[in-house]
Amino acid sequence: MLLNSLLDQQVVFFGGKGGVGKTTCSSAFSLAASRLGHRVLLVSTDPAHSTTDIFETPIGSTERELQPGLSALEIDAEGEAARYVAGVKQDIQRMFSPSVVRQAHSQIEMAAASPGLLEVALLDRMIDLIVNRAGAYDTIVFDTAPTGHTMQLLRMPEAITTWIQALIRHRRAILELDRGVEQTRKAAAAADPVLEALERRHERLSRLRTIITDRRRTSFVLVSVPERLVIEETARAADQLAETGVDVGGLIVNRVLPEGLEGEFYQSRKAQETVYLREIEHRFPRLPRVVVHQRPRDVYGLASLALVSGQLVSPEGASTRRGKH
Ligand SMILES: Nc1ncnc2c1ncn2[C@@H]1O[C@H](COP(=O)(O)OP(=O)(O)OP(=O)(O)O)[C@@H](O)[C@H]1O
Ligand SMILES: [Mg+2]
Repeated sequence: MLLNSLLDQQVVFFGGKGGVGKTTCSSAFSLAASRLGHRVLLVSTDPAHSTTDIFETPIGSTERELQPGLSALEIDAEGEAARYVAGVKQDIQRMFSPSVVRQAHSQIEMAAASPGLLEVALLDRMIDLIVNRAGAYDTIVFDTAPTGHTMQLLRMPEAITTWIQALIRHRRAILELDRGVEQTRKAAAAADPVLEALERRHERLSRLRTIITDRRRTSFVLVSVPERLVIEETARAADQLAETGVDVGGLIVNRVLPEGLEGEFYQSRKAQETVYLREIEHRFPRLPRVVVHQRPRDVYGLASLALVSGQLVSPEGASTRRGKH
């Protein structure tokens, strides 16, 4: 069964602890999907941008076709942040008087230096791809940065939505529009640029939330290895995803040692691994599990990626439409 059912998803995230094989597995999955005739966009959100290394070809911040049916891009969070700040400045210029604009600009410069901005800019670009580019592909695959970070990103829409709703209420109160008739709301948004910008943002975030919490459209694949700390982090991530309402579509257990080798070192590693593999089975009984073996060398280049692809997706019976009628 492998991960074939995920081929029908519009959005698939690959996440997990640092260094467990997220980039390797998301690249291998994307390659497999494209070879089965799906149109795939692989998006790297990790500033280290290892997809360029894995595919042995430069991948920039705009969509580029690497193989028939397989496009990729690496989000440039710093570039996005700069664009984001410029956009906010432009909005403010449009909406307020020159003296307010001057004050606001220095505030924005300060905010632009804050570490959270890169995350917001990254999220903004991810939303843009999910909301606006999904139609151009069968599946968008996200190779994410280590877990904690990704969880924050997935939870952000919720936090920001609440905040924007409060701003909208506040703005409507100022405009004395809180009588709440639907037509008045629309008319008010059309007449007031601040309200309009807030409503637009709110709408975009709700659309994002609808997509990522729809288990028929979005799944998250947790990548792990049979080691104690990784198992703990995987369990935390699975809980958080469930809380956020995001479907966990599979658990990859990467770097499992091949069978039948010899020597004391191997025996000892294998014995420990067996314990952790049992623990994984015990702790994640309901998640579809897929084993990827430890390869003798690092995985890069199409030939070596294809070997991993073969462990993730079977070429036969391309997909089973989960819950779709
Ligand atoms: N099954 C495997 N066999 C051999 N090497 C592997 C395997 N899986 C991953 N690797 C190697 O391990 C290293 C880390 O893999 P990868 O970059 O995919 O991890 P990551 O989870 O994306 O890391 P990061 O958290 O830094 O983004 C790479 O050098 C990769 O080639
Ligand atoms: Mg990576």
